[in-house]
Amino acid sequence: MSQVDRLLLAGVIGWPIMHSRSPMLHNHWFEKNNLVGRYIPLAIEPKNLEGALRGLHPLGFSGVNVTIPHKQAVIPHLDEVSIAAQKIGAVSCIHARPDGALIGSNNDAHGFIRNVKVSFPHWRADAGPITVIGAGGGSRAVCYGLLEEGAKEIRLVNRTLDKAQAIAADLGAGIKPIAWSERHEALGAAQMVVNTTSLGMVGQGALDLNLHDLSSEALVSDIVYVPLETELLKAARLRGNPTLNGLGMLLHQGPLAWKVWFGIEPLVTQELRALLEKSITG
Ligand code: ATR
Repeated sequence: MSQVDRLLLAGVIGWPIMHSRSPMLHNHWFEKNNLVGRYIPLAIEPKNLEGALRGLHPLGFSGVNVTIPHKQAVIPHLDEVSIAAQKIGAVSCIHARPDGALIGSNNDAHGFIRNVKVSFPHWRADAGPITVIGAGGGSRAVCYGLLEEGAKEIRLVNRTLDKAQAIAADLGAGIKPIAWSERHEALGAAQMVVNTTSLGMVGQGALDLNLHDLSSEALVSDIVYVPLETELLKAARLRGNPTLNGLGMLLHQGPLAWKVWFGIEPLVTQELRALLEKSITG
């Protein structure tokens, strides 16, 4: 082993955390970049959150990703929070700077948009209405990313209409809140549909969405990646729509984190994607 004065360290904080695919992703990058480092799943109970955050710099961590249930709870403990993270209302990445300051950002929106653009290079956010299903944390990042990319109309469908209205109030007039009962009709003339609810994920029910009114050219996307093909994506594929699962969103938010933690942008390769797909399909 080469002589180094310390390991490069990063991780992901959540509770629970051992199901996370992030360690596989980031440790692959240490190996491919010939770096002596580790990315560690950190099971942090909510009551220990502040202490854990304050320990990051002294322990030598360059930073962490943040997942459920800490994405909002970390905000009061940070020294700076990026504009995107403020608008989205959640932090997905923390940089523990060499001076000890903790800087929060949100790379989920970037990961979502980059995944779409890499997979469909001719896709344009302003090509027509986009229907987004769900109004939780994932939805806020997706809506923010789509608006930044130039989307003119986002039809935001949610079971709890208040939450869609709150996103419209925070992110602007491009967001049109729509009641859950209108979700099937909200697909008419849409160029893209994004499921951001937990429906379709392993252990959850399926998303009840009738694709009858959807153009067969519309891109159907899910931020769920376990399973890789949700019932929604399967139904869309069978009627000829282009589809995109949520794995790429996870993969493509990683290089931005590495840029601030370690000063390099690792590559999202086919080999890496296949490694994660294999871990999901078993
Ligand atoms: P995340 O941060 O991963 O987006 P979340 O904030 O808990 O998770 O949001 C989950 C989303 O899935 C919400 O839009 C939720 O709808 P509500 O706002 O009405 O709760 C949606 N969701 C979860 N279970 C649902 C169900 N059975 N039917 C419809 N929507 C559901």
